[in-house]
Amino acid sequence: DWTMESFIELQVAEIRAKVGKGRVLCALSGGVDSSVAAALVHRAVGDQLTCVFVDHGFMRKNEAEQVKKIFTEQFKLNLVFIDVHERFLKKLEGVSDPETKRKAIGNEFIRVFEVEAAKLGQVDFLVQGTLYPDIVESGTDTAETIKSHHNVGGLPEDMKFELIEPLRMLFKDEVRELGIELGMSEEIVWRQPFPGPGLAIRILGEVTREKLDILREADAVILEEIRRSGMYRDLWQSFAVLPSIKSVGVMGDGRTYEYPIIFRAVTSEDAMTADWARLPYELLHNISSRIVNEVEGVNRVVYDITSKPPGTIEWE
Ligand code: XMP
Repeated sequence: DWTMESFIELQVAEIRAKVGKGRVLCALSGGVDSSVAAALVHRAVGDQLTCVFVDHGFMRKNEAEQVKKIFTEQFKLNLVFIDVHERFLKKLEGVSDPETKRKAIGNEFIRVFEVEAAKLGQVDFLVQGTLYPDIVESGTDTAETIKSHHNVGGLPEDMKFELIEPLRMLFKDEVRELGIELGMSEEIVWRQPFPGPGLAIRILGEVTREKLDILREADAVILEEIRRSGMYRDLWQSFAVLPSIKSVGVMGDGRTYEYPIIFRAVTSEDAMTADWARLPYELLHNISSRIVNEVEGVNRVVYDITSKPPGTIEWE
């Protein structure tokens, strides 16, 4: 693609000129935008870029490992991978209110990120995967734009970096095209949106290790079946939610008393409104029977048929 190639050339030149011999930092989230931004900046300044990935333990099955593999083995960039899942679990002990949970995760994330950034010594630039619609929506105040769009709800007030926002002129579909051009897999560039606090806000109420394990497995089954059906890209999001209730079921010749899994799949243009997805019964059947059979601790699957509004996409 001629246009994308020349865009890359132009951006690479611009980033090199701006950065000079400076050091660049990027917070990788595993999402499309930060991944493509990192790959582009890496092409421009190579080892002057360091990426930090904070594994809070709320990613989907294998996702954190996959991010690590792609960026260290394929792109061979400097990646600081921090596994802090124990610390996050501890922080969330006894926390069941959704906003308190979000704040706790956001604050902890920033704390971890700051410590890692400080270890790198002098850092001059920070990469942000801000897109054109983000800028337009939030007006012209760049600082506010960044804060309101940062995945975990805010950057530290006193960070003294200059920003590099190489995707600021692009729409989502162009970012995907750019990612492919930079050698990223379809799996990464077509990833559905995933909230910063991850699975933690899909466990209703208190997050425990046991619940995380159940949700992660159920979620993996859903994604596998959705991908197999060929509908992954048509859906804005498709995922599992774990409530904190149990219901009675029957298996073999015994009664069970276990968690239900809520399956949510929506179509949307921009997440402001969404419609529950009219999925084929056969697909619903496969997902339900596989979850109940394969995920220990689950004996029932329900499908959320609420649109937004009045429902939100997430349950917390
Ligand atoms: P709701 O649930 O409000 O979600 O309809 C709209 C979109 O935003 C995502 N979302 C979040 N993303 N941190 C994020 O980075 C969050 O705390 C958060 N909460 C919701 C949600 O997945 C959907 O795409």
